[in-house]
Amino acid sequence: MDIRVERGDIAQYQAGAIVVNLFEGITSPGGGTGAVDRALEGAISRVIEEGGCRGKEGEFTLIHTLGKLPSPRVVVAGLGKPEAFSPDKVRALAANAARYLRRARCATAATITHGAGIAGLDPEACAQAIAEGTLLGLYTFRRHKKPPEDEVELQELVLVEFDESRVETLRSGVQRGVALAEAANFARDLANEPSNVLTPTEMAERARAWAAETGLECEVFDRAWAEERGMGAFLGVAQGSRQPPRFIVLRYRGGGATHLALVGKGITFDTGGISIKPAAGMEEMKGDMSGGAAVIGAMGAIARLKPAIDVTAVVPATENMPGGAAVKPGDVLRAMNGKTIEVINTDAEGRLILADGLAYAHEQSPTAIVDVATLTGAISIALGNVAMGAMTNHDALYARVARAAEAAGEKVWQLPMYDEYKEQIKSDVADMKNTGGRGAGSITAAFFLKEFVEETPWVHLDMAGVDFYEKEKGVLVKGASGIPVRTLVHLALDLAREGLEPT
Ligand code: BES
Ligand code: MN
Ligand code: ZN
Repeated sequence: MDIRVERGDIAQYQAGAIVVNLFEGITSPGGGTGAVDRALEGAISRVIEEGGCRGKEGEFTLIHTLGKLPSPRVVVAGLGKPEAFSPDKVRALAANAARYLRRARCATAATITHGAGIAGLDPEACAQAIAEGTLLGLYTFRRHKKPPEDEVELQELVLVEFDESRVETLRSGVQRGVALAEAANFARDLANEPSNVLTPTEMAERARAWAAETGLECEVFDRAWAEERGMGAFLGVAQGSRQPPRFIVLRYRGGGATHLALVGKGITFDTGGISIKPAAGMEEMKGDMSGGAAVIGAMGAIARLKPAIDVTAVVPATENMPGGAAVKPGDVLRAMNGKTIEVINTDAEGRLILADGLAYAHEQSPTAIVDVATLTGAISIALGNVAMGAMTNHDALYARVARAAEAAGEKVWQLPMYDEYKEQIKSDVADMKNTGGRGAGSITAAFFLKEFVEETPWVHLDMAGVDFYEKEKGVLVKGASGIPVRTLVHLALDLAREGLEPT
C-alpha cells in the first residue's frame, strides 16, 4: 500500500473518499473539516445539527457528495473529547478508519492529518501515527486462504496538507510510521505462520531475506556450531525434534557509544516436550517464536531509521518436541557459560534456549540487553492480555523501556525481583533448576535468565499474554499482535539520542 503526503486543498482532492474529523461537542467544524463542509454547502454542519454525527470516539459518518466535490464520499471520523486526545488516539483512529474504508470498498482515500489541527499535537507525530495505524490496522494474514472474491483493498492513502511549509515534516513522520508498522507486520507474518511452514530453518531464511532488504548483517549458525560453543541448554531443547535448530544473529552498526543486544525466544512450536501440554489450545504454540520474530522485525526498522547506536539481535530457534532423543525431566544440561541446569519440566524450554542466547549476547559486551519471550502462562494470570511483564536488574534501563513502550502505545508493567524469589530455583544436583514451583512463575523465570547476563544492565519482557488477539481493536487485528516490535525500535532510537546513564 502507498501512503504519501501532497500539498493541496483536501476539499478539491479526488479520491474514493475524503477523511475529515470532528471532536465531540463541536457544532461548526473548522480547519480541513470546515473547508470540506463549506464546499459541501454546509452538509456536515447540517448532519451534526440533525444528530447524525456527534464526534464520538470510534464513530464514522459517511456523507455522499453527489457531485459537489471531486470525491464521491466524505467520511467524518469522530475524535472523542479534545482533552483526552493524543497520538495514541490518532494511531487507533487511523487503523479504524482504514478498516472502515476497506468495508466501504474504497481503493483510494485522502485524509487530513488528524491531531495536527485544532488538537495542536506535533504534526510529524500525527503523520507518523496515521501511517503506522493504517498499515497495522489493515494487516491480514491470508497466505493460506483465498481472499473474499468481492473485496476491495485500500491501496492508496494521501495526507493532503494545505500549508507547504509542513509538507516535509509530515513526510518524515510518514516514513517513520511506515518503517515501524512494516517491521511489526513482518513479525506478525512470522508468528501467524504455522509451524510446518515456519520451521527454525525457514525462520532463519526469513531473517536473512529481511536483513538483505533492510541492510543488516545476518549470520545463521547450525547445530555443529552450537556444539562447538558448548550451548548445551539450547541443544538440549533441540535434541527432541527432527527439525534442525538455527541460531540467528543480526547486526546493525550505527556507531555511537551504546551497544544494545536484543534476544528473542524462537520456539517455532512448543509441545511442552516430554512434559507434554494438554491438547486444548496447543495450536497457539505456533506463536512461541513471537519474541524472536519481534527482535528480527525491530532490527529491520532500526536499519531503515539509522539511529547512531550498535544493535545486535540474537534468536535461538528450535522446536520443543517429545522425540525419542528428547531431554527428560531430571536431566542436567550445561549452558555455554558453564552453568548447569537441572531440567524439572521440559515445558520450561524458553528459559533454556534463552540461557545460551543471553550468554552469547553477553559475550558481545553490550551496554544493555533486552530479551523478549512468550515465557510464562503466569504472566497472563497476572496482567491478562493488556500488558507485558518486565523484570530487570537495572531500574534506569527499565525506565527507558517503559518510555519507549509509552511512545509506541504498547503497555508494560514491572514485576519485582526480590532476592527471596531466587530460593525457588535452587537445585540439589545442578547450579539451578528450570522451574520454581507454583508461586511467582514469571519472576522465578526471570531469576533463571538473570544468571546468564551477569552484571550487564538487562530487562526481560514476558509477552506471553499479548502475543495473540481474538478480535480487532485499534491497531491490533485478529492473530499475532506484533508486540513489542515498536517498543524495541523506540528504545534503540531513544538510546541513540541519549545513552544509558551508569548507575
Ligand atoms: N510457551 C510457554 C508459555 C506460554 C503459555 C506462552 C501460554 C503463550 C501462552 C512456555 O514455554 C511454557 O510452557 N511455560 C510454562 C512454564 C512452567 C512449566 C514452569 C508455563 O507457563 O506453564
Ligand atoms: Mn513451554
Ligand atoms: Zn514455550
